This record gives sequence, structure tokens and C-alpha cells, in this order.
Amino acid sequence: QLGLKTEFMGRHIHFEEVVSSTQKIAHSLAGDGAEEGTIVVADQQTGGRGRLARAWYSPKQTGIWMSMILRPKIPINKTPQLTLLTAVALIQAIEEVTGLTPEIKWPNDIMINGKKIVGILTELQAEADRVHSVIIGIGMNVNHSLDQFPEELQAIATSIAEETGEPADRAQVIQAIMKNFEKLYTSYLIHGFKPVKLLWESYAISLNKTLIARTLQGTIRGRAIGIDDEGVLLLETAEGKIEKIYSADIEIQS
Ligand code: BTN
Repeated sequence: QLGLKTEFMGRHIHFEEVVSSTQKIAHSLAGDGAEEGTIVVADQQTGGRGRLARAWYSPKQTGIWMSMILRPKIPINKTPQLTLLTAVALIQAIEEVTGLTPEIKWPNDIMINGKKIVGILTELQAEADRVHSVIIGIGMNVNHSLDQFPEELQAIATSIAEETGEPADRAQVIQAIMKNFEKLYTSYLIHGFKPVKLLWESYAISLNKTLIARTLQGTIRGRAIGIDDEGVLLLETAEGKIEKIYSADIEIQS
């Protein structure tokens, strides 16, 4: 067991050895009324999903493949804030357990030395403007070595063990994630997004840099000047126009 010291996060743990995707199971548990804080954890995923309909590489016993069920009473347009909050909690947890100092690439990639170590996938169950549940999927590369990654990922991905030189205890990392997430989320529900936004900005690598944002509508180049209260990225173009980026692939130029 995990020896959690939390009030509600991870109180109910649904563990499976092999699943197609923990997101899928979490959606179905949420639909059946699972309590807030329920988590689904798997040792391996055969159909792990990433953002933008990509696959997520989830090999056996070397990563944290997990989905959390939340039931916040917030409008739909505020749910991206939870992705940013999760990124902050994950960074705090990684720092605490491993001493590494990861950074955030907007909106939800956690990077170490320019390579991705964690991805976050936030999905909703909602009706009209009412959120029934938010399912936050976390994929963290913990103990796989670089040569275990598929070739196309070797230049862009890394793992905790690869960076520290020693394996990490996945249960201990999950414990730290639960503790830090619960603390931030509880404070967020009372005090709102501002304190989270400040923390997020302190970890962001992309701020004040020139970025290329590839969106479905086209490519925009500009300097990242911050995020707004909904977690939308603000880019200032060469013409001095402020562009709001809701969803994109980001390349950091300089
Ligand atoms: C990204 O594209 O960066 C997000 C990756 C999210 C992967 C996690 S692993 C656990 C959960 N189950 C999934 O199928 N995806 C998420």
C-alpha cells in the first residue's frame, strides 16, 4: 500500500496490472459515481493516450500511469487551471523525492534538461456548463533508461532514473504527488487560481522567450508574456498584438 497521509486524494485506489488506458477506466468509474480523489493506477498501458490524439508510451513497471478523478464545482472554462495546478504539484513532488528541478513548458509538459519527463491529459465529463468530473491523466517516465524508449522519443524524452542515475520508488513518488496535489487543490478551491498561477509562472521555461505556436488555425510567432486567469498563453507578436493561444504545440526559439 501507499501509506498516504492525505484526506481524500488516493483514498480509493483502483490498481490494475495491464490496461488499455487508465483514462478510460477513470471515465467509467466517474460515470458510476466514484468519489473525488479516486485514482486509477496501472503498471502498464497498451493504449496510453496523449494530447492531440497521440499515443503515450507506457511500458511495464517503469512509469507512473495514473488518472485522478476530481469533482470541483467550477465552470467548464476554468478547468484548464487544473492542468496547470497539476503541473505545479508534479514538479513539487519530483523535487521533493529526487532533488531534480524540472520546468514547465506550456501548457502541460514537464521538462528536465529540455526533455519531457511527464505529460498531463485533462478530460471532462460535463453537461451544459456543469462539470460532473474532471479526469486528470498523468504519465511520468520514472525508471526506463533512454535505450528502452522507442527511437523517435530518445531525443525528446527522459526519465527520472536517466536524470538522477538511480531508480526511484514509484509508490513514494505517487505519495508525494497526492500530498502536494491535495494541498494545492484545497487551497485553489478556497482562494482561487492566483497563488497557483504565481507558482506556475515561477516554474515556466517559456516565459519571456520567443515561441512558435502551431495551432489548428495556423502558426503564430511571438514572445510569451504570461498566462491569463484561465491558463491561456499570451503571445506578443512582432506587431505588438497580443494573441491568445488556447491549444498548440510550442517550440521555443530563443
Ligand atoms: C501528453 O500528451 O503529454 C499527455 C500524456 C498523458 C499520459 C497519461 S498516462 C496515464 C493516463 N492514461 C492515458 O491513456 N493517458 C494518461
